[in-house]
Amino acid sequence: MDLTLSDPLWKRGTSTVGLLVTHVDRRLNVMSAEWSYFVAKDPMMVAVLIHESNWTAERVAHVDEFTLTFCSQSQAHIADFCGSFSAHDLDKGSSDALQFLESDSVSVPWIPGGVMALECTTHQRVALPHYTMVIGNVVGVHGKQESPPPLVKHDAMFALGERVPRSSVVVGTHWPDEGILIGAVASPEVSSDKPYDVSLIDEENSLLHQTSAEANEYGDLEIAIRLPEEVASRVRRVCVSRDGLEPGFASVSKQRNRRH
Ligand SMILES: Cc1cc2nc3c(=O)[nH]c(=O)nc-3n(C[C@H](O)[C@H](O)[C@H](O)COP(=O)(O)O)c2cc1C
Repeated sequence: MDLTLSDPLWKRGTSTVGLLVTHVDRRLNVMSAEWSYFVAKDPMMVAVLIHESNWTAERVAHVDEFTLTFCSQSQAHIADFCGSFSAHDLDKGSSDALQFLESDSVSVPWIPGGVMALECTTHQRVALPHYTMVIGNVVGVHGKQESPPPLVKHDAMFALGERVPRSSVVVGTHWPDEGILIGAVASPEVSSDKPYDVSLIDEENSLLHQTSAEANEYGDLEIAIRLPEEVASRVRRVCVSRDGLEPGFASVSKQRNRRH
């Protein structure tokens, strides 16, 4: 059956579960928030979405500082607890399962044991239908370079799976006046000194031009090839291969025609 807009589409995505710690009206509270994301790098910011039914939402106008722990997979029981009970009903901080440590830059404590814990000051509150998005300036961090693996929400809570193997090259082209631009990506497992092999092919699949190029600092291919017009006008396809991976193909005619 096909998906519809009435399906819970968000459950098909993934995110790292967050533990949002606030201290409002002299009450310390922890709320689980799977909708916790980094939203800017420099200055660094995070956003947390809080449903209007939550105790935290009722006080969100007074949340000027908070901490956010991105959970590790060993914290699923804590995320479950802090997301199953409300401060309306329970003092969640009374549980021995939760440990609080003093922050350096904000007055709200942080919870250890996660991938990292962030100290934040509120940058902006964005009102959305039934949710408030609180955007925080990240002013401090606690965590280790060798951080534990994250707790991933994907409807249920999961540990991360295997790294995805990639077996093929993917290539695209563009044809501005300077010549044909070619960009390609390949498996990051390929060693950085392996070049990309590029073939330009005509309508009959005959080879018109062949070259090799080194990967850039990200392991990708980015080159511009200038050809005499009589050769350039016959190029229809580009094939890029690398170190035994399945080659990638792209058409060039469409982009070229669009310009004329
Ligand atoms: C794993 C998990 C993730 C959750 N993520 C969110 C979320 O991103 N936003 C939200 O508003 N509620 C989320 N919830 C529900 C709240 O954590 C829950 O309603 C909680 O009781 C609110 O606490 P409070 O009323 O003390 O603020 C989540 C619950 C669980 C178990």
